[in-house]
Amino acid sequence: MPGTVVIGAQFGDEGKGKITDFLAEKADYVVRFGGGNNAGHTVVVEGKQFKLHLLPSGVVHGKRCLIGAGVVVDPRTLMEELAALEREGIQADLGIDPRAHIILPYHNLLDAAGEEGNHHEKIGTTKKGIGPCYADKALRQGIRFEDLIEPNRLKEKLARNYPIKKKVLEQIYGIRVPFTEESLFKEYAAVGEKLRAYNVDVSLETCTALDQGKKVLFEGAQGTFLDNDFGTYPFVTSSHPISSGAAVGVGIPTGKIGKVVGIVKAYTTRVGEGPFPTELRDAFGEALRKKGNEFGTTTGRPRRVGWLDLPMLRTAQRLNGFTELAVMKLDVLAGLDELKVCTHYLVNGKEICFFPYSTKGVELAQPQYKAFKGFKDLNPKAKKLAQLPKEARTYLKFVEKEVGARISIVSIGPGREETVQA
Ligand code: GDP
Ligand code: IMO
Ligand code: MG
Repeated sequence: MPGTVVIGAQFGDEGKGKITDFLAEKADYVVRFGGGNNAGHTVVVEGKQFKLHLLPSGVVHGKRCLIGAGVVVDPRTLMEELAALEREGIQADLGIDPRAHIILPYHNLLDAAGEEGNHHEKIGTTKKGIGPCYADKALRQGIRFEDLIEPNRLKEKLARNYPIKKKVLEQIYGIRVPFTEESLFKEYAAVGEKLRAYNVDVSLETCTALDQGKKVLFEGAQGTFLDNDFGTYPFVTSSHPISSGAAVGVGIPTGKIGKVVGIVKAYTTRVGEGPFPTELRDAFGEALRKKGNEFGTTTGRPRRVGWLDLPMLRTAQRLNGFTELAVMKLDVLAGLDELKVCTHYLVNGKEICFFPYSTKGVELAQPQYKAFKGFKDLNPKAKKLAQLPKEARTYLKFVEKEVGARISIVSIGPGREETVQA
């Protein structure tokens, strides 16, 4: 049976964690395919909040959870996350692909140094070492999970990498490196020992499960417009959060992906730098940020907020092939007299219905809006679309038609039960 992939349709933080947890109830496996602990996925069950950065959100449901080859793994974060779940009485049933690359503390220092120095344009990264780790992978210099769990290989790889990283940090960035090759080896060999039991060929296990008719959910991290190729480069992450990234990031044929669920926040948010055409930089934007509690799950930074952007969503549809959509945080828009949706842009006086391919073009885009009558408070117990106010349904119908994918889920609160199905 083909798997289902959950994809962020905007700039991340759309609510992928909530929907992954919601869909995980009926899944056998939940698999992460890209990014690392730059992700922050929130799951709320019976008032209890779980913030997951690396472990697939299916872990809360006790499902088999896999971390694919395309993920970059920070072993410190992983150990902390496993311990935190254990304190809640959750024992993760986890597998990690030996090909996944490992984030080491020098990646974090390089990430922060690149942001703070004058050498690069500031991107506003999460400083989790994501870019430098993927860079080492592309340079064929990275350290993989298979190395972490094998002390001799770890020693060899650190001996090759550490002196170079130290030199760059100290001589280019002027940063004192607070760890030695020996201290790194000691710490990481011990962590590798603890994590060795999780080593599993995720590509093989996932393909076998799919062939046996098991239900597999692929959990995307980040969002479409943070994609390294198709996002607002250079204000992007270093991986591929779009649906085809699931195939490469796990090691499965693209044909094994059936459903693609696009997660769409009912408005737009972005953390970090980069163009954002519908951004609201006024008091209303501030109020929306407060009402939506739009502060980063990973870094706590205030998220920039703006109206829903259809040129973005049409482009996300083209890049991902959504078979359905989940519209999130509709409750945050309740009580407004009027809602706005960007239907197209004007770029140098020309009407554009898609997201411009160049970041310069996005910077020049002037959003053009259609106004909708607002709706009053939503019934928090609503379970069916028909139980939502007429004005809310009109807004949703319009989005559905313009994006060209069915809305199958509407989320009206952070809790697992605050979910409407169409
Ligand atoms: P992710 O990175 O895509 O998983 O999203 P985050 O977890 O970073 O951010 C989404 C935030 O919105 C979290 O705090 C969720 O608990 C919360 N959330 C998700 N769905 C809803 C919803 O329908 N309404 C409200 N008010 N909050 C929601
Ligand atoms: P989830 O999975 C929102 C953003 C950062 C920065 C850019 C590059 O929770 O949706 P990086 O640390 O990846 O090198 O930062 O990408 N970013 C995210 N923004 N949600 C995320 O993940 C993000 N992961 C990275 O803010 O602008
Ligand atoms: Mg998040």
